[in-house]
Amino acid sequence: MQRAIPLLAASLLLLAAAATFPVARGHNITKILAQHPEFSTFNHYLSATHLASEINRRLTITVLAVDNAGMSDLLAKHLSLLTLRNVLSLHILSDYYSSRKLHQLSRGSTISSSVFQSSGHAPGTTGYINITDHRRGKVTFITEDAGGAPPAVLVKSLKEIPYNISILQISTILSSPEAEAPVAAPTPVNLTVLLAKKGCKAFADLLLASPDVLQIFEDNLDVGLTVFCPSDGAVRAFGPKYKNLTADGKASLLLYHGVPAYYSPQLLKTNNGFFTTLATTSRNKNFHYTVRTDGDAITVKTRVVTATITSTILDQDPDAVYAINKVLQPRELFKIPEVVEADAPAPASKKSKHAAAGPEESPADEEASDNSALSLSAAGRWLTAAMAATLAAAVIVVV
Ligand SMILES: *[C@@H]1O[C@H](CO)[C@@H](O)[C@H](O)[C@H]1NC(C)=O
Ligand SMILES: *[C@@H]1O[C@H](CO)[C@@H](O)[C@H](O)[C@H]1NC(C)=O
Ligand SMILES: *[C@@H]1O[C@H](CO)[C@@H](O)[C@H](O)[C@H]1NC(C)=O
Ligand SMILES: *[C@@H]1O[C@H](CO)[C@@H](O)[C@H](O)[C@H]1NC(C)=O
Ligand SMILES: *[C@@H]1O[C@H](CO)[C@@H](O)[C@H](O)[C@H]1NC(C)=O
Repeated sequence: MQRAIPLLAASLLLLAAAATFPVARGHNITKILAQHPEFSTFNHYLSATHLASEINRRLTITVLAVDNAGMSDLLAKHLSLLTLRNVLSLHILSDYYSSRKLHQLSRGSTISSSVFQSSGHAPGTTGYINITDHRRGKVTFITEDAGGAPPAVLVKSLKEIPYNISILQISTILSSPEAEAPVAAPTPVNLTVLLAKKGCKAFADLLLASPDVLQIFEDNLDVGLTVFCPSDGAVRAFGPKYKNLTADGKASLLLYHGVPAYYSPQLLKTNNGFFTTLATTSRNKNFHYTVRTDGDAITVKTRVVTATITSTILDQDPDAVYAINKVLQPRELFKIPEVVEADAPAPASKKSKHAAAGPEESPADEEASDNSALSLSAAGRWLTAAMAATLAAAVIVVV
């Protein structure tokens, strides 16, 4: 497996590219806060806790930022990164509040939910923030479980992009014993064990038989990985074709089922398009596919085959694993199927030319799918259930 080193290097190179890939929204909290050095600690921890991408992917949001002095009070508590995430997620409100809007609150106060409230970590009514507009223009923020701690005060507006994102400075970190409660670290993901337990044992066995490839998947678990694992039936049916591949071909095929970035079910739905994979090399963007939302179903389309996601096996930032109903075949290793036009009396044209098609996408090839509408809608119902389950909590493992 002399290939392993270049492949690893390639996948590490891709990480840098992948970090910028998932989000195509208008705002970038990291970039906005970078213009305010007195918020560098807050900014750093938004990235370290992965809340920055959470903020970027939301469309109507308010961030309550505290300056470096305020952050040092929080850091002095020596909370774990997971607990810090809960505390900081309390400072991200799921609504747009300009400073003007806060100074005109009807009835003087309002209750806003925070990202912590919807995270699945917040018991009862914790995670709700009471915002009060006092006389003489003072606006305060306090959690429902502040327990006598004084409220934080609005200092100034840092940036407002109506009605997408508002960034406001507040005087101190919001106090919430519930958010500061220790969080049990999630058990580290053992990929092959997880896959084997969830109907992808055959695929897990292929990975176990290729330790160098498995290592690349595992290296990416810490920084962001999405795996599309074909069901046991699909791998079994594919067996003869797999055996036919060279050692390099086998490695590429396995790596083709991993994407070096985290795509939650929500992100997959909203980021339809071109995905590079662990098999993609840095020189040219080969070994890619497109992900599309098709009603309730999400499909993964290579030039050769279209697979449908049948369930979410894991959604635990920064990793996601989805079961798919077919082995993904890259055009770099397999022939693009000829398009069969059932009733068009085609002028006996040269469809077979597509088998050796160039790198450009061709709509005709994109249609070459052996999915029936029936299996798509069945998968759709499946997926809806899986999505509902994953939406119930931002961070869950479907066991
Ligand atoms: C707000 O977000 C929408 C959706 O991403 C985008 O089209 C729009 O340009 C954004 N507005 C601004 C002012 O950036
Ligand atoms: C946001 O901005 C930072 C700093 O400019 C940059 O490193 C990062 O890649 C950007 N993220 C996205 C998703 O564009
Ligand atoms: C928010 O807190 C203030 C002060 O404690 C209280 O008067 C107000 O009723 C609260 N607002 C809401 C909407 O509960
Ligand atoms: C995953 O579990 C298997 C079986 O228990 C073990 O052999 C393997 O070393 C584990 N892998 C990692 C990366 O911990
Ligand atoms: C295996 O490769 C040979 C030679 O390229 C080809 O003729 C045969 O059809 C292939 N078998 C399968 C199952 O793909």
